[in-house]
Amino acid sequence: MKLTYLGHSVILIEKNNFKGIIDPFIKGNQLCKTSIDDLRNITHIFVTHGHGDHLGDTVEIAKKNNSLVIANAEICNYLGKFNVKTHAMHIGGRTKFDFGIVKMTNAVHGSGINDGENMICGGNPGGFVIEIDDKKIYHAGDTGLLYDMKLLEDEKIDVAFLPIGGNYTMDINDAVKAVDFIKPKKVVPMHYNTFKPIEADPQDFIKKVSSSEVIVLDVNESIII
Ligand code: NI
Ligand code: MN
Repeated sequence: MKLTYLGHSVILIEKNNFKGIIDPFIKGNQLCKTSIDDLRNITHIFVTHGHGDHLGDTVEIAKKNNSLVIANAEICNYLGKFNVKTHAMHIGGRTKFDFGIVKMTNAVHGSGINDGENMICGGNPGGFVIEIDDKKIYHAGDTGLLYDMKLLEDEKIDVAFLPIGGNYTMDINDAVKAVDFIKPKKVVPMHYNTFKPIEADPQDFIKKVSSSEVIVLDVNESIII
């Protein structure tokens, strides 16, 4: 499985013919060096919650690539207006797809969808555990520290993507506690240095984490697991 960081919380997952993207915030993402046209053959899009920096360019990418969007029921209902293919899940649910197994996890955050003038209900925010060929990743979405993360230890996560930027989510100190709960083999920090309120130094995260290997990915950098 090849995992590429596109900036903010955008992760590209590639394995054989499967090409998934999590939280595709492309336009307006100051860290992202990829254009929507660069994203080809995206088979699946995972959306953790309805905020603009996560739902992002889901509609445009899904339409261009005929991708299947996996998200909570409320976001899928919203996407139905745009004739996008969706598979609704919800927190705690685990489902087998042709590419692997997906579980939606809890997050403490918001999920409103900003539709210009109105804020549309985007259900509850979540995260994803995605298992493909015996490798498991966890993308936390946006969340504060949750004691529920302790339950993820049993999942034996290979790579956890955790927000560290603070203000809207866990900061570094809380993300360090999350790593202790989850005990992933590797942890990749995300959701930092995109905007002023989420400035954080990933080197500080490296210094504070002792139980897992921290991998700080540059934008467009990949790891293979
Ligand atoms: Ni958010
Ligand atoms: Mn966010």
